[in-house]
Amino acid sequence: MPGTKKVFVKTFGCQMNVYDSERIAESLIPFGFSGTDNIDEAEVIVLNTCHIREKAADKVYSELGRLRQVKEDRRAKGKHTIVTVAGCVAQAEGAEILARSSVVDLVVGPQSYHRLPDLVFRAQTESRRIVDTNFPEEDKFAALPDRSISKVSVKGAARAASAFLTVQEGCDKFCTFCVVPYTRGMEFSRPVDSLVDEARSLISRGVRELTLLGQNVNAYHGAGPDGKDWSLARLIGAIAELDGLERLRYTTSHPNDMGNDLIAAHRDQEKLMPYLHLPFQAGSDRILAAMNRKHTVDQYRRLIARIRAARPDIALSTDIIVGFPGETESEFEETLRLVEEIGFAQAFSFKYSPRPGTPAAKSDEQLPEEVKTERLHRLQALLASETTRFNAGCVGRVIPVLFERAGRRDGQIVGRSPYLQPVHANGAADLLGRVIPVEISEAGPNSLLGVIRAA
Ligand code: 5AD
Ligand code: SF4
Repeated sequence: MPGTKKVFVKTFGCQMNVYDSERIAESLIPFGFSGTDNIDEAEVIVLNTCHIREKAADKVYSELGRLRQVKEDRRAKGKHTIVTVAGCVAQAEGAEILARSSVVDLVVGPQSYHRLPDLVFRAQTESRRIVDTNFPEEDKFAALPDRSISKVSVKGAARAASAFLTVQEGCDKFCTFCVVPYTRGMEFSRPVDSLVDEARSLISRGVRELTLLGQNVNAYHGAGPDGKDWSLARLIGAIAELDGLERLRYTTSHPNDMGNDLIAAHRDQEKLMPYLHLPFQAGSDRILAAMNRKHTVDQYRRLIARIRAARPDIALSTDIIVGFPGETESEFEETLRLVEEIGFAQAFSFKYSPRPGTPAAKSDEQLPEEVKTERLHRLQALLASETTRFNAGCVGRVIPVLFERAGRRDGQIVGRSPYLQPVHANGAADLLGRVIPVEISEAGPNSLLGVIRAA
């Protein structure tokens, strides 16, 4: 029986926030809630926020401005609303959020959202505003309801046939531009057994593809059933054995944690998809050192060669920052050259954004906005041409596609290729949740079009 009270969750930022949003909504189900996409009917509104770049953090405050009206309209109808700020802005700014925005009732950090039901209850009964940004001793994941609890509809939730599974959180790498070690805390790996159980629950809900998540996922070292620490490759091996699961992915990785067994898994594990997101951030050794990345361009280059030797068709993706403090024109051009040399199927690129409390934000070599914008445009033009070229290379091939949702056009369904490209094809809705061979007929800059070959 769906609950009568409603929770609305809006997700900002990364895939881990998408995962957290689902679990936030699910945490309220035992207390009579169900998820809704209609904000006006929600007793509890949660903004699950991102602090990675300034723009992301700013979005939260403009959203809170809009929520004021929603809350007032509900109050006029005699309905109470609890507005919650969760996620990394909550962690970074804490009580400041209450001071800046009177519409907020609750602030809850990414490590304490399992306490949300209790916090909501207290905010309602005690009529006071609450901040909980602790890093509690208890295991957040163990305290949350089992994943088979529901098929909640959460805005921004993962596709039904494909789900995220957070296996590792936090980071102790301290790249000098990054807030993650401060907002998500030190590295923590979940135990293997609880992950295999969660994977099983998700598969029982119809999930066919799992993406294992972590800020530093390939540094995973969770306790195995044998009492030893298991690597990500071993965890992948255990989850790959589950019946009903067809595909596995993982993200985001650090080059220095790409172990031999993980590279070998790309050769040996049939369910592990030929796609790897491996940020390199900058193509100059001087900038990489200033970023505290602890690897050189050449080490990255050689690592890619080993990965390609293990899995020649692997699609590579990356993150790149332009305009890091002190970056010269020729250092930026080194980034362009590395992109050209490696050839990425996909990439995410950003202008450097100074984040409060991080070492790079204190540098007095900050670059003007125009320089960053101009470099970003040049880089993105190059990246777009590489993605287009990669997509065009798929035309004429027959590729297995996991269909996940109905398309915008009537009769069309959309899925993902092994290389994570969206693929559109004409097909019946009963093909959703299945992996089907598709002959690719056309390629665009961001997606493919094809014809279903057999069902
Ligand atoms: N400015 C710009 N981009 C950043 N990223 C992280 N911190 C910053 C920052 N301060 C980018 C990195 C990272 C991705 C998730 O976001 O490229 O890999
Ligand atoms: Fe941030 Fe990733 Fe560097 Fe960790 S490894 S500090 S999450 S950019």
